Amino acid sequence: MLLCVFAARIAPHISHTHILMTRPRIYVAHALFEAPRALLAAHCDAEFWPGPGRPTRDELQRAAANADGLVCVLTDRIDEPLLAAAPRLRIVANVAVGYDNLDLAALGRRKIAATNTPGVLDETTADLAWALLLAVTRRVVEADALARSGKWVMWDLDQFCGADVWGKTFGIVGFGRIGQAVARRARGFRMRVIYSSGHRVPAEIERELGAEYRTLDALLAESDFISLHVPLNDSTRHMISAPQFAAMKPTAYIINTSRGPVIDEAALIAALAAGRIAGAALDVYEREPEIPDGLRRPNVVMTPHIGSASIETRTKMATIAVENVIEFFAGRRPPTILNPEVLS
Ligand code: GLV
Repeated sequence: MLLCVFAARIAPHISHTHILMTRPRIYVAHALFEAPRALLAAHCDAEFWPGPGRPTRDELQRAAANADGLVCVLTDRIDEPLLAAAPRLRIVANVAVGYDNLDLAALGRRKIAATNTPGVLDETTADLAWALLLAVTRRVVEADALARSGKWVMWDLDQFCGADVWGKTFGIVGFGRIGQAVARRARGFRMRVIYSSGHRVPAEIERELGAEYRTLDALLAESDFISLHVPLNDSTRHMISAPQFAAMKPTAYIINTSRGPVIDEAALIAALAAGRIAGAALDVYEREPEIPDGLRRPNVVMTPHIGSASIETRTKMATIAVENVIEFFAGRRPPTILNPEVLS
């Protein structure tokens, strides 16, 4: 069944120990969606995690042990011990734009290619950041609970009064593709947009988005709403902690659709409990899927890490991951490779 489709197309980046006389064997740690699943199965000998739920660490490690390629998601930790137990592995394709779950240094040492799924989820994630901003400021979740409870007795002038969004100052932390997509939407709300970022973007982008650069400290002090769009790494872990909450306006709301550990969750809980800020809207958490009780407050809106979760976008993400694997074993450069140096 596995005979010899790939051997003819050997590329320089596939080491001779991986000249495959059979179709490459790919372990997919998720059932994916029908189209990307069929695409992968047409090119490779693919085994899919059958579900329900997700494979345990041991199950993933056992499956990776016999795989030439691995398609994983952001909850799969791909680290040195897992790689040590997977001697055949040549490529790890992460179905996510964030790749803090991959130990890139360990992958590089073993000359294993790593890929992610940039570019297709920016608008979808920006939509969710906006959904959260509007939900928390306009108290949509609290109001929904009353509307569906059957206990609404009358309209009242001061019922569920929240904060206006339009015309306010929106601070965007991290101004890559997603941060900029969030800023673009703010124009329709006639907001003032300020941003902080590792690098200032070109003046024409600032002009087009009507965005002004600020240091993080200045942004925290000026913003009515602060939305986080940075990757998780050593310099962004806990970048929003007690001093940053202290610097915010007491009327400020914070929105996080990036990665949970960018916020020091204990400090956020303390800030909310002390009324240091007005509220929070969160899609990500420090120890997912754990959500501490201190966040279960009326002025906190929470979703379970669904930033990119539209059917269109999640299908595109899975397709990109699969295409990276197919291209790699066809001897071509995976389109969204994170560590191209391993190909040389
Ligand atoms: C989602 O969180 C992603 O990184 O794609």
